[in-house]
Amino acid sequence: MQEQRGGNFGLREEIKAYWSERAATFDSHPGHEIGSAAEWRAWHALLTRHLGPGQGRAALDLATGTAVIAHLMDDLGFRVTGLDWSEPMLEQARAKAAFRGRDIDFLMGDAEFTMLPDASFDVIVTRHLVWTLVDPPAAFREWRRVLRPDGRLLVIDGDFVSTTLLARLASVFERARGWMRGGSGAPDEEAVRLARAHRSILERVPFAQGARADRVAGLLAEAGFERIEVDMHLGPIHRAQARRMTFFKGADRLIQHRYAIRADMR
Ligand SMILES: C[S@@+](CC[C@H](N)C(=O)[O-])C[C@H]1O[C@@H](n2cnc3c(N)ncnc32)[C@H](O)[C@@H]1O
Repeated sequence: MQEQRGGNFGLREEIKAYWSERAATFDSHPGHEIGSAAEWRAWHALLTRHLGPGQGRAALDLATGTAVIAHLMDDLGFRVTGLDWSEPMLEQARAKAAFRGRDIDFLMGDAEFTMLPDASFDVIVTRHLVWTLVDPPAAFREWRRVLRPDGRLLVIDGDFVSTTLLARLASVFERARGWMRGGSGAPDEEAVRLARAHRSILERVPFAQGARADRVAGLLAEAGFERIEVDMHLGPIHRAQARRMTFFKGADRLIQHRYAIRADMR
């Protein structure tokens, strides 16, 4: 990604370019791809708790990335379509599905304006998209349009803006570890540039103060969703992820504001 952006290179393109650059290494970060049997079980339990068994129902994984959630949904018997606007992410997703022999459809598209037919999915699931939506109210109305009348939405997201003391300690620890291994302790240029791009995007999205569950739930209600439930019980997932992280990062994972929100069409 170049530093200089001009002309029509808007926020949406910046978000797309940012994730495209991260596609190749996305799955290597604990907290992205599933890292243990305990984490698989915890994710299956969360999805089953809110969505029930798939039984061939049509599910759309919005902003599928490398298809982590799409695979979980496929495990549970949903007929899964993964949509993302980043071609490098979709390449990873397609390769992984082929490698694992999974029959998952992938589509290039914008989650805020999917171009999909009305009432075409029983379930929409989306992890870690909402916090960077450029127009959340319009996106939520679009998701209602695509869901069938008895459909259900499951949003898995968090507040990735408010940093905790533990997150700051984690970053000091990472630097100290790098220094002890003989480096300067400073993150490499590439990491600095990506962190800067991330910060810049975050400052300009509507959830710049963090996508808190109550605010997201309020906007879902305004868009017309009903029976909205916020689930903060993601502990088993986070504990499994924390085992693969450094002490401070893992401890931070356990106290961050992360949630699942389920919402029905009626
Ligand atoms: C943090 S990654 C999450 C990927 C995946 N949902 C997961 O949880 O592993 C964010 C993904 O959202 C995609 N994305 C962001 N905004 C999007 C939009 N408006 N339409 C489609 N994809 C979008 C990015 O390309 C990226 O793949």
